[in-house]
Amino acid sequence: MKNVKIADGVHMLSMNVEDILFEGMWDLANGVTLNSYVVQGEKTAIVDGVIGWDGIPETLYDALEKMGVKIEDLDYAIVNHMEPDHSGWMESLLKIKGDIRIYASQKSAALLDQFFDKTENVVMVKDGDTLDLGAGKVLSFHLAPNVHWPDTMMTLDNQTGTLMSCDMYGSFGKIENSYFDDEMSDQDKAFFEEEGIRYYSNVMATFGSFVQKAIDKTKGLDVKIIAPGHGPVYRSNPSEIMDNYQRYIGYGEGKGKREIAILWGSMYGMTKKALDHVLKILEKEAISVHLMEMPRCTESDMVAAIFKSAGVIVAAPTYEYKLFPPVAAAIDEAGRKKITNKAAVYFGSCGWSGGAWKELSQIIERNNMKWDFDEPLEFKGSPHEEDLKKVEAQVMELVKKVRAIANEA
Ligand SMILES: Cc1cc2nc3c(=O)[nH]c(=O)nc-3n(C[C@H](O)[C@H](O)[C@H](O)COP(=O)(O)O)c2cc1C
Ligand SMILES: [Fe+2]
Ligand SMILES: [Fe+2]
Repeated sequence: MKNVKIADGVHMLSMNVEDILFEGMWDLANGVTLNSYVVQGEKTAIVDGVIGWDGIPETLYDALEKMGVKIEDLDYAIVNHMEPDHSGWMESLLKIKGDIRIYASQKSAALLDQFFDKTENVVMVKDGDTLDLGAGKVLSFHLAPNVHWPDTMMTLDNQTGTLMSCDMYGSFGKIENSYFDDEMSDQDKAFFEEEGIRYYSNVMATFGSFVQKAIDKTKGLDVKIIAPGHGPVYRSNPSEIMDNYQRYIGYGEGKGKREIAILWGSMYGMTKKALDHVLKILEKEAISVHLMEMPRCTESDMVAAIFKSAGVIVAAPTYEYKLFPPVAAAIDEAGRKKITNKAAVYFGSCGWSGGAWKELSQIIERNNMKWDFDEPLEFKGSPHEEDLKKVEAQVMELVKKVRAIANEA
């Protein structure tokens, strides 16, 4: 665990977590950081913690001891969010220091009771409430409901303008050296652009309207440093991550980069023949593509690629009168994440009845996704010349839309 000084009296204790399924389902290619914060005035508060897994609370305790903070001497624990990636360790903490005073939103307080039977010494804060740690350190609490659970809040150290924003402004991706935006190389920046999108699309996209409220709330505060619960700290230009989050909200509503996500599957290569034709066209048009063969592609990569691309191609056959199941599941997942208004094309092979498009359109309808599909095309067996022509025309139309969307994004 790394101890990084963020500002006077504010330290970040950060650890990389790899080889996990985040939220029990996201296979994170590049891991994630868990960031905990220690704020010291005359009194000491810890803002958020770590997951409760074997050995991980102890890693946090070691890091605290190394900075001269004994667990027994902690005065306050601030719970920004009760999801166990930040608060799982409370179970262990409460065994060591059961009388610690906990500051939490009303909804976090209810969850503390549900998860850990903890009700004593819990102070329920309202929006804007403060906690004076002495020596000029005053924390204030700012509710950010549904980012990402109903209980979430952000904690501001008013002395240094450090906003400990929990899941808000977070990013996936482990950190080896550069914890601050101003320490990042261009390569690091590109890495966190992708990992920020992976994070937002995988865990935040469903809550776009609430993320918007949290951005607006941040703008009303005197914030100089943004210090999230996952990912790097933004101190040279905190508005950059706010602008990025604003852009991500747009991606969830149909905007996107000049890229096409291709969600595909093919049992015996018939659909793939048409797809190979499409790939040649896209290469000529110099549009970058994300090829996501389902079910080989991870859910995390798949959702991120669809989310950030201005266009989506769904290429998959009929399977038992419906859409090829791994592709159907992927579209449904995009629907749950409220990825709406994408410009899209569908084509796929069938043997006799067809039915893939019917199910695809039902999934789009059921999730209220409003994807703008051009004429869907189901062809029988191997694609013939006229099928390829139809696919080509549609893909060229999609390319036009993608260029227009990317230009305004
Ligand atoms: C398990 C299985 C189920 C299928 N179910 C249907 C079906 O319900 N209706 C249909 O028209 N074709 C059905 N087919 C035929 C395929 O859609 C057809 O073979 C198509 O060419 C496969 O394209 P692909 O090679 O791209 O997977 C099925 C094929 C398989 C292997
Ligand atoms: Fe969370
Ligand atoms: Fe989190």
